[in-house]
Amino acid sequence: MRLKDKAAIVTGAGRGLGKGIALKLAAEGARVVVADLVEENAAAVAAEIAAAGGAAVPARANVARRDEVEALFAAAVAAFGGVDILVNNAGINRDGQLYKMSDEDWEQVIAVNLTGTFYCTRLAARLMREKEYGRIVNIASMSWLGNFGQANYAAAKAGVVGLTKTAARELARKGVTCNAVCPGFIDTDMTRGVPPKVWDIMVGKIAAGRAGSAEDIGNVVAFLASDEAAYVTGEVINVSGGMVL
Ligand code: NAI
Repeated sequence: MRLKDKAAIVTGAGRGLGKGIALKLAAEGARVVVADLVEENAAAVAAEIAAAGGAAVPARANVARRDEVEALFAAAVAAFGGVDILVNNAGINRDGQLYKMSDEDWEQVIAVNLTGTFYCTRLAARLMREKEYGRIVNIASMSWLGNFGQANYAAAKAGVVGLTKTAARELARKGVTCNAVCPGFIDTDMTRGVPPKVWDIMVGKIAAGRAGSAEDIGNVVAFLASDEAAYVTGEVINVSGGMVL
């Protein structure tokens, strides 16, 4: 119970990695606001946490909308008295080669992955500075270094890395850490969308010989969210089963 009674927000927690992260934080004793664009998924995850004896409330929020992020944080404060842990996990991809990428695909991916992370992190920074305690974990991607067909996604995730390191510098003396986790190839609905051939190529690149799981990511996020990680900030941590060594 490393996170006993800490109040956490996990965005995009209705399924996939966000769900795995929310379940893990709750299992470690955190009270979790399960935030997602899809209300019924958020409710189902919150119910799963409650059924396991944990504390959680669901919240519908589109992180790309500042007003909805403000309402989300207000709900978290109302439910749990504050926000000790923020996990910016909500993300989308709209892959396609740069030369034929539409404005809409560019803007949507930047809006959710980067601007959404900014809106949430700014509000968290205000609360956490005041409390002189906080843990912010941003889910980036190894694609931030550039990836074929992912100009929008790579740009957004590289932006998240820059935001992470800046937040780390600005908040360190206030007892707030900010780190990025870069999942490699993880088995979620997002990756299930790739053709079987691509799946095999991706898994072939992984030293561990398997795609990652939401639990693999949740374990690392829980560490970064804990008091044990007080002296870890501004880091970009790959969790990939040895995809790039
Ligand atoms: P997913 O597509 O399975 O789940 C994403 C969740 O975010 C969904 O529940 C969705 O409803 C929610 N969401 C989407 N847009 C939202 C918005 N505007 N506001 C609030 N919630 C929103 O995706 P997955 O695989 O779980 O990915 C989670 C994060 O991990 C993303 O940031 C993704 O970029 C990142 N990631 C995933 C990898 C993978 O292999 N699955 C690899 C590297 C990074």
